[in-house]
Amino acid sequence: MKKIPSGVPGLDDLLDGGLYERSTTVIAGPPGTGKTTFGAQFVYSGAVQFNEPGIFITFEEFPETIYRDAMNFGWDFKKCEAEGKLKVVFTSPAVLKSELEKEGGFFDRLVIEINAKRIVIDSITLMEQLTSDQLELRLILNSIINGLKRLGLTTILTSEVPLLFGQESLPDADIGFIVDNVIFLRYVEIESELETALTVLKVRGSRHAKDIRKYEITSNGINIETKFAGQQGILTGFPSRQISGRTLLEEGLIRRKR
Ligand SMILES: Nc1ncnc2c1ncn2[C@@H]1O[C@H](COP(=O)(O)OP(=O)(O)O)[C@@H](O)[C@H]1O
Ligand SMILES: [Mg+2]
Repeated sequence: MKKIPSGVPGLDDLLDGGLYERSTTVIAGPPGTGKTTFGAQFVYSGAVQFNEPGIFITFEEFPETIYRDAMNFGWDFKKCEAEGKLKVVFTSPAVLKSELEKEGGFFDRLVIEINAKRIVIDSITLMEQLTSDQLELRLILNSIINGLKRLGLTTILTSEVPLLFGQESLPDADIGFIVDNVIFLRYVEIESELETALTVLKVRGSRHAKDIRKYEITSNGINIETKFAGQQGILTGFPSRQISGRTLLEEGLIRRKR
């Protein structure tokens, strides 16, 4: 099976060449780690560099916010839309689900209209509002994922993880089991600075790097850098960095461990 470039410099090396076509990847991480940016970079690079038009589905942020934030990275989503290479869709989990279930529904038609090859759903966590039953949620997510595969799309799902330091925590609903690839973003404290780190946790059917990489959100988007050389135990450290004189816990930015 063919692999496609993710559009994120450095990531394809970790993935042994890129993402499998039609695969589903979860990008999980706490707020501000760059999940939305990741997704935007994936569809934008598809549209302008790889001749793979894309759909960006947002549940929470208004399209105007998406256009603005993308533009700040130099990604002109509006121009791409005008050229028929990209489409930003603001919808709800319930509408997305019902449209994907319909033969000839909105998404079927959109995929054909722009010849879409990529899709981002930002964020899959919001799908949890569809049901409080974990098993039913898993079935819904599975059917959505399969629906997107059937449409020939390579998918990125962002997944919100509570901000917790010093503890590994994966997204809910066993999402890691039903998708092909899992990429985990987190904050780490290095010499009293908060840095961002990425790990590829799972790639179905492929080799992949298992090291922890530093990455940065630059004015051009996400850029994956080197390993944290000489930094052992960065996953177990419990940062005590203070923001505005108060701890992250006091600021309510992290949840107290239960
Ligand atoms: N134009 C930009 N240049 C550099 N960094 C940016 C830019 N826009 C956003 N960021 C960084 O990206 C972070 C938010 O990324 P985002 O993708 O929205 O995260 P998430 O979706 O994981 O909450 C901000 O906290 C900021 O650090
Ligand atoms: Mg986001």
